[in-house]
Amino acid sequence: MQIVHSIAEMRRLRRALPGTLGLVPTMGALHAGHLSLVRAAKQACDHVAVTLFVNPLQFGPKEDFGKYPRTFEQDCALLEAEGVELLFAPAVEEMYPGGAETTVDVPEVGSRLDGASRPGHFRGVSTVVSKLFLIATPDRAYFGQKDAAQVAVLRTMVRDLNFGLELVVCPTVRDADGLAMSSRNRYLSDEERRIALAIPRALASAKAIATQGEWSAPVLEKLLTETLSEVSGLQLDYAAVVDPVSLLPLASVTQGALLAVAAFVGTTRLIDNELLSAEEFTESTTAVLNLAEVLSR
Ligand code: PAJ
Repeated sequence: MQIVHSIAEMRRLRRALPGTLGLVPTMGALHAGHLSLVRAAKQACDHVAVTLFVNPLQFGPKEDFGKYPRTFEQDCALLEAEGVELLFAPAVEEMYPGGAETTVDVPEVGSRLDGASRPGHFRGVSTVVSKLFLIATPDRAYFGQKDAAQVAVLRTMVRDLNFGLELVVCPTVRDADGLAMSSRNRYLSDEERRIALAIPRALASAKAIATQGEWSAPVLEKLLTETLSEVSGLQLDYAAVVDPVSLLPLASVTQGALLAVAAFVGTTRLIDNELLSAEEFTESTTAVLNLAEVLSR
């Protein structure tokens, strides 16, 4: 695997690559969630490049930029084992030599969910991802459904700025206990991890209730909020049932919905979500109607 620190070198190597390039942007501290994106990219593209950059622009002044886990050697070994050819790992001075006067902002979608709780966060994400797209010019770029609001923001950005690449979204990878994998999970003590498991549990049960016929988004949102507010040791940031594209509130979940949660456990902010697809409802509606028909016979 070639490790590249300079933008000029990355551009040069990219230009020399024949065929399609899949890009997997990360902030490192890699886990199986990140590696699932690498595997999806390897399957669909002739070449795969991973980027590793802890982007200061997307961290708030009181957030964990300084203590964000940095495990470069281990990350390199994991990527080597996956057969990644190219790792772009620039320093902060390489990416922002003159600061960052020019930014990319998706002001509406970017101010919802995590954008509301973390002002400026998505401006930082959109700006760095734009830069990575301009440097690496990938044909496809891979992101995780785990960060559902990030996906909504980047989809809007790719559409509005005509990046001309395919944004591929991969399912959330979970640990055996159900917790969505995250680089930040390593901050959790055993006790905090136990508390955090309330998040995937609440989401899974809200999803089950929805598919069993409770289609009201406000009712499901209230259920999630109430369930998670009662968990001691967990501080709910938001629980929302929204449109997955616009992140706006919904009346009914039958056209597809995002059930999203953010919560603090101790000082660690965790996010997770479940996606309800419209097809799930056409199927379950048909099942309910069939059952009604059978019962009425
Ligand atoms: P990071 O948190 O390192 O995540 C990199 C990518 O891995 C993101 O697309 C994220 O959604 C995905 N990912 C994280 N956990 C996952 C899981 N459990 N299952 C599947 N995919 C998962 O997201 C960022 O970095 C940054 O904001 C970035 C896009 C790199 C811009 O700085």
